[in-house]
Amino acid sequence: MAQSRAEIRYDQSARTFRLDAADVTYALGVNESGELQSLYWGKRLQPADDIPAAHADNGTSSFDLPVNATPQEFVGWGGGLVVVPDIKITFPDGNRDLVLRYVSHRIQDDSLTITMKDISRDVTVVLQYEMDGETGILGRSARVENHTHAPLTVEQAFAGTWNLPASSDYQLRYLTGRWAGEWNLQQEPLHPGKVVLESRRGSTGDEINPWFAIERGSAIDQETGDVWFGALGWSGSWQINIEQDWENRVRVTGGYTPFDFAYTLAPGESLQTPKFYGGYSDSGIGGASRLLHGFEMNSILPQPHRLRPVLYNSWEATGFDVNESGQEALAEEAARLGVERFVMDDGWFGERKDDHAGLGDWFVNPQKFPHGLKPLIEKVHALGMDFGLWVEPEMVNPDSELYRKHPDWVLNFAGRPRTEGRHQLVLNLARPDVRAYVYGFLDKLLTENEIAFLKWDYNRNWSEPGWPSAPLDEQKEVYVKYVQNLYGILAELREKHPHVEIESCSGGGARVDLGILRYVDEVWPSDNTDPFDRLSIQNGFTYAYAPGLMMAWVTDSPNGMNNRSTSLEYRFLSSMQGSLGIGANLNKWTPGDFATAKKLVSEYKAVRETVQEGLLYRLLSPIGSEYAATESVARDGHEAVVFAFLHSSQEGKPFPQLYLRGLDPAATYHVHLQEGQLADGTVERASGDYWMHHGIGVSLRGDFQAACFTLEREAR
Ligand code: GLA
Repeated sequence: MAQSRAEIRYDQSARTFRLDAADVTYALGVNESGELQSLYWGKRLQPADDIPAAHADNGTSSFDLPVNATPQEFVGWGGGLVVVPDIKITFPDGNRDLVLRYVSHRIQDDSLTITMKDISRDVTVVLQYEMDGETGILGRSARVENHTHAPLTVEQAFAGTWNLPASSDYQLRYLTGRWAGEWNLQQEPLHPGKVVLESRRGSTGDEINPWFAIERGSAIDQETGDVWFGALGWSGSWQINIEQDWENRVRVTGGYTPFDFAYTLAPGESLQTPKFYGGYSDSGIGGASRLLHGFEMNSILPQPHRLRPVLYNSWEATGFDVNESGQEALAEEAARLGVERFVMDDGWFGERKDDHAGLGDWFVNPQKFPHGLKPLIEKVHALGMDFGLWVEPEMVNPDSELYRKHPDWVLNFAGRPRTEGRHQLVLNLARPDVRAYVYGFLDKLLTENEIAFLKWDYNRNWSEPGWPSAPLDEQKEVYVKYVQNLYGILAELREKHPHVEIESCSGGGARVDLGILRYVDEVWPSDNTDPFDRLSIQNGFTYAYAPGLMMAWVTDSPNGMNNRSTSLEYRFLSSMQGSLGIGANLNKWTPGDFATAKKLVSEYKAVRETVQEGLLYRLLSPIGSEYAATESVARDGHEAVVFAFLHSSQEGKPFPQLYLRGLDPAATYHVHLQEGQLADGTVERASGDYWMHHGIGVSLRGDFQAACFTLEREAR
């Protein structure tokens, strides 16, 4: 399929830029003051539509200086700015005034670069805009360059400002959470004032994910209405500000959090901000998610999405208690089910008996694996699976050889306590020696063993984020350099070991963002594997991230999280909404369990392309509801896969009629649903229009019931 391209045009007489791709137009211009002004962002305009020249807004009173009233694309703190700046600088002479003006631009293929410069000082900011041809999603970032003869300190650096037109009817959505309870969807009306979404944790964090969506209108419909959305590509501390001004206009800014931030630029040095991606859909929040999903799969991942193999993971079955014979026995059972990848989790290295010791000592534990990992890996291969391994490279237990040898390698303030989380400390990856150590042991592990997959874990937040060995004025750069080195290690490992796939895990979903997704193939959304809780967790996840990135394991029942018992079939169907994994203790399964699981694994393989890479429609939200249902439509339209879940029947009420979406209205579809699950009187063949408007009745009754069915398009 030919790649669609973005079109970028500059109108010299009006001094306007117009970027068009997919269904989106984005326009900006240089106004009479030389400011870069936002002009339009939304539904694609007609080719002949002119974008009128930019004119600064002079405000309505002496309190509304034009610098604040004019919607600017990128603005420095200076000249009376009171809204959130994109950049703030302190010069060594005490001057803190930065006023940027347009200097020049360059258009190359689907990217636009605009250079701005301060009115008197030799500080330039190079703004980058890249528009994705398939989705119209823009990636924005900025590079601040010091061309003066003295060092300066950057105290705040954002990628840019997204401006939305005035409206008193905006709804903001974002995702909050905690360990084992990630991906809660929040929705609230926007009011004049400011909403700050932020992580000060050193990493992305699960308290708030760096994603937002703003809908105009308060319709509850998933598929209609204007939606603007954005996500930061950064895995360190971050901030997104959503400001609504006195005229109900909205500005969204984001990048490194300015909290505890200072980055010194010597003459000739520059600082690049994280990328801030933004998109628009006129097909509601559902359409916005689908655009983002496609963008992630095709343009963010380090390689175009590969179908996720069905995986087995040892964690919930054996905990830290792994050894050669035990893992081999589990591998044999997993292979019988049709599992394609066997992953050994925590416990295989150093003196790792529990979470008190061993992190940092990345050599195979000789008691547990007297012959190294080779026999297990060979066994896994002989069983027809590939082999994956758990690592937590950025951490160290004080009780480890590494820490005893290098106590200065962790983040710390000299002479201050080092706060432990899960009995571990954070290695300071910004240090070149730590970076070399981490890359070195991972490279060795991958060179010496046939490992196809790493589960890369990260199980605590930062504390005492000091870097005592760095020059004083560079110590706060740890926030940037740590993450740059993390990305660097991942990139180098991928380059040297291109067949190795990586999962980003952080005690669940605490490091999921468009930055880490440039270097990994999948993510672990939550340590909570309760299949009912998972419906809401997975639902929230898909607002920002694609189902094909989301690992979901079937584990044992009752599930430890809530002591809830569910059938194996219910657990499978919940996990089959993402990338299927199994994390149960197979030694305890009955022959009946094996038969059920084997059948469901093979059914999953038949639909996984549609589930992982298709277009997701949310039919019934699980949030606060007895019912939940999703539908995935294959990109080529040949089938739709529907999952339906019932919490508990009440008062004999039937399961709600499901109105499907995204089908070809005139095509005929054949429904394949397990016997007894089709409501009485429901036909099996009908048009797309019929399924979308008449709907389909599913017969689910009882507690924790689930159904999965497909609609297959018939040849015309
Ligand atoms: C984290 C992960 C789990 C598991 C444990 C191992 O909590 O999220 O899946 O790997 O670490 O210690």
